[in-house]
Amino acid sequence: MADLFDKCAAWKDAQVLKLAGHYPYYRVIQETNGTEVVVDGKRLIMACSNNYLGLANDPRVMEAAAEAARRWGASTCGSRVLNGSMTLHDELDHRLAEFLGKEAAVVFSTGFGTNLGTISSLVLRHDTIFADRMVHASLVEGMQAAYGDTKRFRHNNMEDLERLLANAEPNAGKLIVVDGVYSMEGDLANLPAIAELKRKYGARLMVDEAHGFGVMGPGGKGTGEHFGVHEDVDLIMTTFSKSLASIGGVIAGPADVINWIKHKARALVFSASMTPSAAAAALKALEIIQQEPERRERLWDISERVHRELRGMGFDTQPSVSPVVPVVIGDQALTFKFWRKLTDLGLFASPVVKPAVEKELVRTVFMATHTDDHIDRALEMFQKAGRDLGIIPAERPHTRVEVKMARPGVTGFYSSHDGDTTTTGTQDGGARLEILDVLTQADEPWSRRLSNAAEMITWKAINAGPEEYQQLKELPFKLWGKRRQLPTMLLSAGMNFMARRQQNGSDNQRDA
Ligand SMILES: Cc1ncc(COP(=O)(O)O)c(C=O)c1O
Repeated sequence: MADLFDKCAAWKDAQVLKLAGHYPYYRVIQETNGTEVVVDGKRLIMACSNNYLGLANDPRVMEAAAEAARRWGASTCGSRVLNGSMTLHDELDHRLAEFLGKEAAVVFSTGFGTNLGTISSLVLRHDTIFADRMVHASLVEGMQAAYGDTKRFRHNNMEDLERLLANAEPNAGKLIVVDGVYSMEGDLANLPAIAELKRKYGARLMVDEAHGFGVMGPGGKGTGEHFGVHEDVDLIMTTFSKSLASIGGVIAGPADVINWIKHKARALVFSASMTPSAAAAALKALEIIQQEPERRERLWDISERVHRELRGMGFDTQPSVSPVVPVVIGDQALTFKFWRKLTDLGLFASPVVKPAVEKELVRTVFMATHTDDHIDRALEMFQKAGRDLGIIPAERPHTRVEVKMARPGVTGFYSSHDGDTTTTGTQDGGARLEILDVLTQADEPWSRRLSNAAEMITWKAINAGPEEYQQLKELPFKLWGKRRQLPTMLLSAGMNFMARRQQNGSDNQRDA
């Protein structure tokens, strides 16, 4: 009989990455002031926080959180519907509705719960969701929990969206769901076209502004404001864990819809409310966002500079037009190597790999509170790591680098993945490395050769297309021939991955 836990014991990806010294997740931050962090006793420049405006470390926000804990206690110990709604939560509902220009709003204790609760309570049998394929996981979770039907359209592909809308049951309630700013690649939803389609087909529109709130549009209201279609966005969602420097989430829209959600969303009704300090921090951050638009300006200045400089060095940063600037690598092993190198040089960035993104990348976000010196040093680190690994050329390319950003004042500009990429020679760099070459690199110490080979086996086995897979199948036997030189661990890692890949025959069919 199968044991439920067998799969957990058999899953070795994280261990193999650790073995190769390339495990990038769950890093423990021992100290932080926002722009710099200490990890493993080493000070690093933080280059991938979502603390866009730097308010999580603003003394006024921190004091508001501390004061609220002293006055209201450490927890509400209850859900909003029964005993967990305090003055702070009520004030936050009202202030956010007012700021966003919507009739009403309700705050949840996380952004994830806001998306889950909103969609699952609103979309019932006979209703249909039309969601971009790249929307955030919390929206996907909401769709899976909803009774209604879900159709996914190709990322930012308006023909595909229109095709789905046109073929839908005319009497079905329709909800279009998109992210305003896509969190990994930094491109924007084409909201003007989406707004037009929503009107044409009588649908409603929900936009997740997690990465747009406080950042996009002249007032920081989000991507709808940036495009001048704020009124067309029926439901605006944002999390408090980014510009709002706290934890929680909000959905804002028509009063009767918010009233429905307040009574029907299980993620709200059956979950404890935000802590008083989290609510107070978000209230203070909202006040500062409204009073200090210069923070947003500084964020855009920094982001534009980083984006232009990285492109000027020869990195691929498309399709971003926002402060989320991806450094696109397009090869898993090389992405992890690049990340490791950046960390060793003193930068905290995040590698993001499939299936979270179409092409592997290192995600960077700088904050309004980074100094020019931070940016100078971070850019030097990117250049050194990129050149050392052959991701960018040793000399700056001569071509003039145009970077278009969707900053306030640049009306209507957006970009998307479709047909809008540059190549940097990155993929060649990764593909040229062959496992047996790695093992015979006489100038490298054995420990390094072995860890490089372990890493390559892992990623090649996971990502191999059908043709490469045929060759890879031979690999354990070739390695076996070298068994006297190789530790047992490496051999069994290679064998395990090959066996798993083999069992997973359907994956190969799909790759084909
Ligand atoms: C686009 C988007 N939506 C929703 C969420 C969830 O928000 P939270 O972290 O508050 O749960 C995130 C967080 O990563 C996000 O990036």
